[in-house]
Amino acid sequence: MTMPDKNILDLKVLISEEEIQNKLKIIAKQVEEIFPADEDIYVICVLKGSVMFCIDLVKHFKHNVQMEFIRISSYGHETKSTNNLQAIDLTLPNLEGKNVLIVEDIIDTGLTARFLTDLFKIKHHPQKVIFVSLLNKKCARQVDIEPDFYGFEIDDKFVVGYGLDYKGYYRNLPYIGYFPN
Ligand code: IMP
Repeated sequence: MTMPDKNILDLKVLISEEEIQNKLKIIAKQVEEIFPADEDIYVICVLKGSVMFCIDLVKHFKHNVQMEFIRISSYGHETKSTNNLQAIDLTLPNLEGKNVLIVEDIIDTGLTARFLTDLFKIKHHPQKVIFVSLLNKKCARQVDIEPDFYGFEIDDKFVVGYGLDYKGYYRNLPYIGYFPN
């Protein structure tokens, strides 16, 4: 059986399940201030990392929500961004004139966020795009971009859990953790 070359017993909790769940309510309120609850929204889940965050976040919305899933890869099996974005599936319906909420797990270098923001503005012509990220590694930024809202600012350490993986593992953890050096 293939196992990740790190031991889950060494994993330290950085952000607990309770902290995450509380933060979701705050983010949902922030989104509602931009997109009133009587307006429809398209929620774009950026796979695979934002799957947990996105699925939990939409449960707090009172809007009519349509969910779409796109897939981008930037890390491969490394713990540092490869600066090499791979758009695996960007299939989306017509979003012209729609309210769009892009949901990301983490903004690290900012390259993915930059790519997505440009893509939506240039190709999809929505009425309004809001970018939300659970985590924000501001100190690792390579391009000048910030999400409209984010849950937690973190140091430049590699984190796993709640959708984020190391070599494909640990996405199922309900909290965010890291492996101390
Ligand atoms: P960026 O383009 O460098 O901002 O990276 C964005 C993507 O890299 C995220 O959507 C994650 O999938 C992945 N990523 C960045 N930092 C981490 C981390 O600490 N753990 C796991 N994945 C990460």
